[in-house]
Amino acid sequence: MEALKGVRILDMTHVQAGPTCSQLLAWMGADVIKFEPPNGDATRGQLRDVPNADSLYFTMLNSNKRSITVNMKNPEGKKVFIELLNKCDIVMENFGPGVLDRFGFTWEKIHEINPRIVMGSIKGFGSSGPYSDFKAYENVAQAMGGAMSTTGTPEGPPFVTGAQIGDSGTGLHLAIGLLAALHQRDRTGQGQYVEVAMMDAVMNLCRVKWRDHQRLTRQELSEYSRPTAGLTATPRAGNDSGGGQLGNAIKCKPGGVDDYIYVVVQEAVWDGLAKLMGAELDMPGLVSDARFAKITDRRANQSEMWVLIERVAAKYTKREFMAILNPLDVPCGPIMSTADLADDVHVRGRDMYVELDHPQRGKWYNVGMPIKLSASPAKITRSPTLGEHTDEVLKEVLGWDDAQITAKKQAGAFSAPPKTR
Ligand SMILES: CC(C)(COP(=O)(O)OP(=O)(O)OC[C@H]1O[C@@H](n2cnc3c(N)ncnc32)[C@H](O)[C@@H]1OP(=O)(O)O)[C@@H](O)C(=O)NCCC(=O)NCCS
Repeated sequence: MEALKGVRILDMTHVQAGPTCSQLLAWMGADVIKFEPPNGDATRGQLRDVPNADSLYFTMLNSNKRSITVNMKNPEGKKVFIELLNKCDIVMENFGPGVLDRFGFTWEKIHEINPRIVMGSIKGFGSSGPYSDFKAYENVAQAMGGAMSTTGTPEGPPFVTGAQIGDSGTGLHLAIGLLAALHQRDRTGQGQYVEVAMMDAVMNLCRVKWRDHQRLTRQELSEYSRPTAGLTATPRAGNDSGGGQLGNAIKCKPGGVDDYIYVVVQEAVWDGLAKLMGAELDMPGLVSDARFAKITDRRANQSEMWVLIERVAAKYTKREFMAILNPLDVPCGPIMSTADLADDVHVRGRDMYVELDHPQRGKWYNVGMPIKLSASPAKITRSPTLGEHTDEVLKEVLGWDDAQITAKKQAGAFSAPPKTR
C-alpha cells in the first residue's frame, strides 16, 4: 500500500516550485487534485515541443495527478473550492503575493472552513519582511539566496546552477513541512499554515557557503585554489571542493565539452594516487615529493597537483579514468551529460528515467522518483490533460450527480469568462 494512501491534496500550485512538491507527494500515494484555472497552468503551453500537446515542462512536473478546472473568479466556482476544502487534508499554492487573499481566502478563512486542513504556501520571499510583496522565479531566488554570488569562477560573472534549487529545492522543503504538519494534525486534530520562501530555501541549500563566510573573519580558506585573504564575502570557487577534502574537475580524452571527471583527492587515498601518477608519468619520486607530502602541502600546491592529475587523465576517457581510480578508492565521478544519463545502465536500473505514454504526445520520459520506499515503491503515471477529471472529482469526492454538475457548469463555475487572466 502506498505510504500516503488516503491523503487528499487540493493542489492549486503552478509552474515548478509547487508542482514538484505535489508530484512527490502523489508518487508517495496521495490523491493530488490539481485545481487549475479554466485555461490551465501556464506551463501547459510553455516551451512546447509538440503542437497542441501539453509541454514537457508540464508533463514532467504533474505526473500522477488528477486535473479539475474551477473558475475562482466566479461565485459558483468559489463554492466548489469550499466544498473541496472540506474534503481534503492539504491545500497548497504558490501564487504571487496576495492572489489567494484577493479570492477572499486567507489562511484564517481556510482554517475556519476546515480546521483540520494543512495549508502549504510557497512565496519568493515569504509573507513578512520588506521583500514579501515581490514575485520570484528560479533564478531570482538563486540570486537572492546566495547561490549565484558563490557560483562561477572568481574572475567571471556570477552564475546560476543547473539544478533548480530555487523551485524544486523549495518544493522539497515544502513537502517536508507538509508531512510534519500532517503528522501533528493527526495528533491534535488541527491543521496549520506551512510557508516556505524560495530565498530561505536557497540559503539553506547554501549552508556551507555561510560556514565559509564566517571562517573568512578568522582565516584564509585554505581549500580554495585562489587566495581569499581580505575578502569579506564567500567568493566564487570555480570547481574547487566545497568541503574538507581537495577536489576539482579534471579534463579527459578526447577533450569535448563534457569530457571531465570530478576527482576528490581524499587524504586517505593520496599514497595510492601518487603511486599511480608516478607510474603513469614516469615520476617515481612523486610519492615522497615534499610539495604534496601532507594535506597542508597539497592545499598550498594544489594547482600543480591538478596539472599532474590532468596529464594522466589526458590519456583516458572519463569512464576509463573512473575505472582506474575506483580500485584505488578515489572518490570520483565523470561529468555526465543528459545524453550520458539518458542511456546509463545504472540510471535505467534504478527507474530514474522512465518511459510513459500520453494521449497528446505519445512516448516521453520523466525523471523518476528519487525517494525509494521499500514497502511502497512509486508507480509513475502520466500527467492529466486539462480538466480531465473535473466530472470524476465532482462525483467521487463531492458526491454530485449529473444534474448538479450541469447546473454549475451553466453557472460558469468551471469555465473562463472573457479575460480571466
Ligand atoms: C510564479 C509567479 C511569478 C507567476 O506570476 P503570475 O503568472 O503573474 O501569476 P500569479 O500567481 O501572480 O497570479 C495568478 C493569476 O491567475 C489567477 N488564477 C489562479 N487560479 C485561478 C482560478 N482557479 N480561477 C481564476 N483565476 C485564477 C489569479 O487570480 C491571478 O490573477 P490576478 O492577478 O488577476 O489575481 C508568481 O505566481 C509567484 O511569484 N509565485 C510565488 C513564487 C513561486 O512559486 N515562484 C516560482 C514559480 S516556479
